[in-house]
Amino acid sequence: MCGIVGYIGHKKAYPILVKGLQRLEYRGYDSAGVALISDGGHLNVYKAKGKVADLEAYCEDKDTTGCAGIAHTRWATHGEPSSTNAHPHYSASGRLALIHNGIIENYLTLKEKLISFGIPFKSVTDTEVLVQLIEHVMLSNSLTLLEAVQVALHQVIGAYAIAILDREHPDGIVCARQSSPLVVGLGADGDFYLASDASPIAEYTDTVAYLNDGDIAVLQLGQELKVVNIDNEAQHPKVKQIDVTLGQLEKGGYPFFMLKEIFEQPACLRDCMRGRINVDADRITLSAVIDYRECLVSARRIVIVACGTSWHAGLIGKQLIESLCRIPVEVEYASEFRYRDPVIYPDDVVIAISQSGETADTLAAIELARQAGAFVFGVCNAIGASIPRQTQTGVYIHVGPEIGVASTKAFTGQVTVLSMLALCIAHERGTIRDDQYREMVRELTLIPAKMEEALLRNEQIERLAPIFTYARNCLYLGRGYNYPVALEGALKLKEISYIHAEGYPAAEMKHGPIALIDSEMPVFVIATRDHLYDKVISNIQEVRARGGRITAIVTEGDTQIQKFADHIIVLPDTFECFQPLIASIPLQLLAYHIAVCKGKDVDRPRNLAKSVTVE
Ligand code: AGP
Ligand code: GLU
Repeated sequence: MCGIVGYIGHKKAYPILVKGLQRLEYRGYDSAGVALISDGGHLNVYKAKGKVADLEAYCEDKDTTGCAGIAHTRWATHGEPSSTNAHPHYSASGRLALIHNGIIENYLTLKEKLISFGIPFKSVTDTEVLVQLIEHVMLSNSLTLLEAVQVALHQVIGAYAIAILDREHPDGIVCARQSSPLVVGLGADGDFYLASDASPIAEYTDTVAYLNDGDIAVLQLGQELKVVNIDNEAQHPKVKQIDVTLGQLEKGGYPFFMLKEIFEQPACLRDCMRGRINVDADRITLSAVIDYRECLVSARRIVIVACGTSWHAGLIGKQLIESLCRIPVEVEYASEFRYRDPVIYPDDVVIAISQSGETADTLAAIELARQAGAFVFGVCNAIGASIPRQTQTGVYIHVGPEIGVASTKAFTGQVTVLSMLALCIAHERGTIRDDQYREMVRELTLIPAKMEEALLRNEQIERLAPIFTYARNCLYLGRGYNYPVALEGALKLKEISYIHAEGYPAAEMKHGPIALIDSEMPVFVIATRDHLYDKVISNIQEVRARGGRITAIVTEGDTQIQKFADHIIVLPDTFECFQPLIASIPLQLLAYHIAVCKGKDVDRPRNLAKSVTVE
């Protein structure tokens, strides 16, 4: 959830750390802090509630010298957001400072034990227990910091990515991970960088080592990266070259990352399909399907596990796979699946969908599926994240870093990958005719251009947005493939504008939500031309008859719906199953412009985090 940044090398640490925290701001947090070993040999810790900018303001008149430091953005789990509870936490003697992402489940037992030894606590966090335990073990047994961390972590139950500075050894940082991501960057000049993901590191080096669960790393100046486990056995994390460009991380002239990411979608989907759909646009090649053809083609059932927006993409994937491949598909919230004692067969294929690849509930669902012997397939965006590493195989969506907390391009990337996957499996199973397959593949390659047309509606939507800022509730209706689009449209609006919104299958409205409809209630209907078009028109009439205000998303050439709708947004036509890729664009733009009109921080909505690494 929170962000970790660390640096040790030949440059001044503070500016690198602050910039790194800013790059991680998208993950969501409530306070921030930094620890530095100053040129004078002091271990200074500075913390502030609020944004990274508040921390910077606080540090203005402080000693920010030093070439070694660790920094943190916190998303509180234990104890309110405050400067006391913010990280880093000092050890009792002031010799160590520690930052932590995750939750220590047995912190109370450990804390009681440490208090009985007379160790004082300043915060109410679970984290402070770690630093006190490590120092206690270190001092009472005359151990090195690494040895103390190994002994302490033997006693700890929970999830953590941690980094520790030791005033007595200013040329090193010790860090460790268990169920929380941590990446080490290796600078050409022997400098070390540390972060929760590669984005703060990318501008300094393209060589990174992704730590694995159980790894403890020592970043010691003048030495090679040393990685061991708690039993001091050497570990060998993979060192990779990353190609996240700085341009991909900047806003590129847009006022918010979210708008940039909405507009990037045509280019992102071209990237997503590149190398997978051949130049003649009549064949899809997914290496995962070639390598694991048997498992996928003979699957008795597919279970999709995901959260939030990724779950909505899963609902579209279900319809695609069932109709094209004739394999039954269930879509589960990962958080429910993991605790439900679900029936999982060894010949099930479990598809885990996640933008970040770090969502704790989705990771736990994967673990459960693996234990039951199912074949687990990942659909992920963040390269090298935990989910792609814990699934047997999978497909990256390749849409580049998504910074805005509200997911946009990852959603359409996920739907594109699921479309390609369904088409591949259907072709292999023979559940689709060859001419039909080719026609669909060709249509998929036309989607980016059609998205560009849909994006031309931006100005119209910007003009419409102020009309809806008064609303306290909104209803989104759609049927078939457009039902998940309605759910996703509603989620986008509530996430960033804080207007309550519901997505509903249009026909289901009459079984309850219709009671809410009056002239104050904006209703957004996705009414593109498909086999349910006439039925959706009837649903629009039902809203109209009760005084509801209708904004309809329609296909070009539509002459019917404008008779009943207050506003229409016209989109290019495509095959019914690809319509979500186009129809979600005006809903993303609507949510964006309504939130901007309301003066909200679109990229960092309150209470939300980009990467939900706690359950
Ligand atoms: C999307 O707008 C949300 N912020 C959220 O629902 C998100 O999709 C969910 O937390 C899952 O994240 P993941 O795709 O990284 O696993
Ligand atoms: N559990 C810790 C706390 O509440 C860390 C939370 C985080 O990951 O930011 O301080």
